[in-house]
Amino acid sequence: MRKLHITGLMVLFSIGLSVGNLVAEEASVDPDSIYARLGGQAAIDAAVDIFYKKLLADDKVNFFFEDINMDAQIRKQKEFLGAAFGGPKPWKGKDMRKAHENLDISDEDFAAVAGHLHSTLKDLKVDEKLIGEIMALVGSTKADVTNQPAAKAKP
Ligand code: HEM
Repeated sequence: MRKLHITGLMVLFSIGLSVGNLVAEEASVDPDSIYARLGGQAAIDAAVDIFYKKLLADDKVNFFFEDINMDAQIRKQKEFLGAAFGGPKPWKGKDMRKAHENLDISDEDFAAVAGHLHSTLKDLKVDEKLIGEIMALVGSTKADVTNQPAAKAKP
């Protein structure tokens, strides 16, 4: 009986901790961030799932993912975009240049992939201004993803 009591208390304590963590995480999100305006991690997750369906159906680029564990890839992309859009969890994976350096991705490949993200956001009826901001942010990874020299800062 006493043992049950202690186990019950421990369960309640850990539920309290997880709820506390969630509340603290959400509180650390800027309400003006892309993350918040898009609808948080749930909205990013839904968009990434649709995005990879489109990507894998496109013969121009799906061969890049032939030998890739897609469950892991989709999870990483959700985490990366969550962080890049201003979410509470930092990205702990590879930087974009390292992640793509051996893939020989061309400008056309990049445009095709970015196009699938754009059409996903349109399908989800995301606000046009927000789509513009997201596409600009994703576009800012292009030099790294295509392994080109970083654009020089304007004087
Ligand atoms: C549009 C911007 C892009 C973003 C934000 C992005 C993001 C990512 C991320 C977060 C990873 C996982 C990195 C890790 O393992 O830690 C990754 C891996 C990968 N990306 Fe991209 N990516 C982009 C464009 C592309 C394009 C254009 C292609 C190909 C056409 C591509 C193909 C791949 C492949 C094949 C991997 C797996 C590499 C491996 O596990 O060996 N990505 N990308």
